[in-house]
Amino acid sequence: MNILRTAATSGVWMVDTLPILKRLPSWLPGTGSLALARLWRQLVFKAVWAPYTWSKRSFDAGTVLLPNTCATALENMNESRSADREDQLVWAAGTMTVAGHETDDVYQGMHLPEGVNVVANIWLPRHMLHDPEVFTNPMKFDPDRYLNLDSEMEKVTNIVFGFGRRQCPGKSLAENITFAIAATVLATCDIVPKLDEDGNDVIPNVVYTSGIFR
Ligand code: HEM
Repeated sequence: MNILRTAATSGVWMVDTLPILKRLPSWLPGTGSLALARLWRQLVFKAVWAPYTWSKRSFDAGTVLLPNTCATALENMNESRSADREDQLVWAAGTMTVAGHETDDVYQGMHLPEGVNVVANIWLPRHMLHDPEVFTNPMKFDPDRYLNLDSEMEKVTNIVFGFGRRQCPGKSLAENITFAIAATVLATCDIVPKLDEDGNDVIPNVVYTSGIFR
């Protein structure tokens, strides 16, 4: 982006006014800007082609993650894939990436300034994990709501591990370890309260604390 900004500044480059200058041999004093242009050209080509090549390799190997603009376009091309069409795709995808990262955006009427970090609030009352249309009585602590229904639990696990490409890669491990621990404890232990000196049950006072986990 810096390269584009500098290169596109008008009045800075003599070669814009006198295009014949681009024919000068590179050893000639005063042609430093041509060497710079060649270097920048290489950098831009690399920045645009490297992600495409990676994407295409994953697509051909069947390991591509969707949604992916290049993969979808390659799939649509099918037999008609040609060097020309690939070239068009590479530059279209490259432009989209630069434009997406370097410009403001608007989502549902909200202005998202360039470079902003968007953090999903999955706890939000009346939304996501507390959406009354998805969970009956969502603010109530009610583990029974998941009894015997994997689909009910999936409503939660589809959200708590994040979304899209940055979704937690430890999801399967975490779910399986948690299941193994819970199953082992239930199969091998009696879960009972501890007793005070007089032999009475001590029921802990359960309170939520702030932090990354509650
Ligand atoms: C109950 C357990 C876990 C929960 C609730 C959890 C949740 C999350 C969440 C919400 C994210 C952020 C996703 C996003 O940015 O959208 C994340 C990222 C990540 N998690 Fe987990 N996680 C758990 C266990 C694990 C385990 C066991 C591992 C590794 C063995 C792991 C490795 C990672 C890594 C490497 C990232 C960063 C991924 C990236 O930014 O590309 N997590 N996790």
